[in-house]
This record gives sequence, structure tokens and C-alpha cells, in this order.
Amino acid sequence: MKSIQTELSQLNKNLHKMIAAENPILYSASQQLFNAGGKRIRPTIIFLIAKLLNKHQIISTEQKRLAEITEIIHTASLVHDDIVDNCDKRRGMETVHTLFNNKIAVLAGDFLFAQSSWYLANLNNLDVVKTISKIITDFAEGEVQQSIISFDYHISVDQYIEKSFYKTASLLACSCKATTILNRSNKQIQNNFYLYGKHLGLAFQIIDDILDITGLSKDLGKPSGSDLVNGNLTAPLIFTLNKKSELKKMIDKEFQFKETINEAVNIIKNTNSIQKAKDIAEEHIQLAIHIIKYKYEYTNNKELLLVTYYLLNRVN
Ligand code: IPE
Ligand code: IPE
Ligand code: MG
Ligand code: MG
Repeated sequence: MKSIQTELSQLNKNLHKMIAAENPILYSASQQLFNAGGKRIRPTIIFLIAKLLNKHQIISTEQKRLAEITEIIHTASLVHDDIVDNCDKRRGMETVHTLFNNKIAVLAGDFLFAQSSWYLANLNNLDVVKTISKIITDFAEGEVQQSIISFDYHISVDQYIEKSFYKTASLLACSCKATTILNRSNKQIQNNFYLYGKHLGLAFQIIDDILDITGLSKDLGKPSGSDLVNGNLTAPLIFTLNKKSELKKMIDKEFQFKETINEAVNIIKNTNSIQKAKDIAEEHIQLAIHIIKYKYEYTNNKELLLVTYYLLNRVN
């Protein structure tokens, strides 16, 4: 996104300063993921919403800080998620717990959450503090919900969506809302952007779950097929369950062998389940689009629309 390139490169510089730690091990563990890059989708969305709301398309200092805080929270949750998911690659690099160990990775994640809270408090806006701090609670809720129902094929689509809200969409919903609070927008606009972020986040997680089945590890920067290995039963699999009973047997045996994973992936791919999952993601994207395209008469919504569609079109 050309129009926010300066802001994004400033964000990358600031992130390094914000996660500086006195302890060299903690510092290099915390730095590991930031150095590996990442798409910076959340800051991108925040910057574009900030510009959308401002007559002169100016992003305020507080909104820039909010984008940094959000990316730190996201990164912290990835460090912890990779321990939970036993995942050894992220953003094409070794994960923190693989490079160091679980203890260091837990502490590095905690450190990042703590740093984000410090900078959040320094925004001096109680409404924003309340909105953003909920993300961290929700993330823990989502991860716990997911681990409780691992390898349980009775999971319903509603349960899957609820869990996805907690672990992923809450972050986008709350940070979009906080961007409007910092703009002093009215409650209705705040709520609408919360919904925009929520739908975007749900679509984003569904697409990520599809890519885990259809994508190649080298493109994803993380191993594909790992949701199945971990018993994380996602939309494409849930839609296949009733059609292919052999899948249930594989799940009962917790995908014992590598070949079973490949077999399960092929079974899923040979049904219309991927398309069905994509249809749900598309519904959420349409709901998100509706808010920024039709609800308000924003004239400068092109880039935000583009990013919103891009998130859907990551799968073809
Ligand atoms: C990965 O998020 C975790 C999910 C919520 C699916 P991203 O795909 O945005 O990860 P990075 O930041 O680009 O690495
Ligand atoms: C998203 O879930 C996790 C976070 C919100 C951090 P996943 O477990 O599906 O994310 P990936 O696939 O590891 O990126
Ligand atoms: Mg994971
Ligand atoms: Mg995933």
C-alpha cells in the first residue's frame, strides 16, 4: 500500500525500540519474530481506517501508537500460539520456542504482552485501554476453547466461529473500534467499525484455515496441514465430516501417521468443503464491505476496500 509506506516503515523502526529489553536473551527471543517480517495486516487496516475518518487523511500520533501496540499483541499471541500448536516455523523462520525453549518463549510472549500494556496505558485514554485489553483475555479464551475441543468431531460450525472470534477476530474488531475512539467518532461509528473488524477477522481466520489445507508450507512460511496434526478441526474439515465417515475414524486415531494426514487432506479437497468454507468467508467479507462502502459516504475508501478483498482472495 503506497499511501501508507512511510507509516509502515516508521512502525517497523518503532517496534524494535518498543520491545527493547535489558536481558539479552529476552531481547533476542522477543526480536526473533519481528525480524522475520510478517504481513502487518493489522497496522495496515488501522492506518487506512484512520485516514478514512480524517478529512485531511491524517493519521494521528496516538493512532500510530495503537497500530504498534496491536502488532505487538498479535506477535505475542503468535509466540504463545506456536508453543500450544507445537509449530516449528513461522514467517519462514524458526519459532521462538524452537530456537530457544518453551520457558523462554512463554516469558518472551509475556514480556511482549506486558510491553503492549505499558504503551497502551500511556495513550491515556481509558476507553481505548478497556477496548484493547479485552483482546488479550479473548485470545486466551479462544486458545483454551480450541484445545478443549481438539480431535472432537462433534464440533459445530457455531462453535468453530465462536472460537475464531475469540482467538482472532476480537483483535481486529477491538483495534478497529479503538481507531475510531481515538478519532473521537460517535458511538455508532465505533460500533460499526467494531463489526467491520469482527467480520474481517472471522473471514481472515477461515481463509487461514483453508490455506492450512490447500497451501504450500513455503508460501505460508509455516507448516501446512498442522491444524489436522493438532486436532484443530476447522471449517473445511467440519463440512466434510458428514459426507465422508472415514474421516471420523482418522480423527479418532488422532491422524496417527503422516500418510493419514495426506489422505485426510485429499478427502477434504475432493469435496466441495473448501468452497463452502470460502463462501462463509465471503459472506463475512461482504458484511465488512457493506459498512465501509454503503453505510457511510466515504469518498476515500478505495484502499481499504482493496485490502478487504485481498484478504479473501488469498485463496483462489
Ligand atoms: C496469523 O496471522 C495468525 C492468524 C490469526 C491466522 P497473520 O497471517 O496475519 O500472520 P503474520 O503477521 O502475517 O505473520
Ligand atoms: C490463530 O490461529 C492464532 C492466533 C490468533 C495467534 P492459528 O493457530 O490457526 O494460526 P497459525 O495457523 O498458527 O498462524
Ligand atoms: Mg497456530
Ligand atoms: Mg492456522
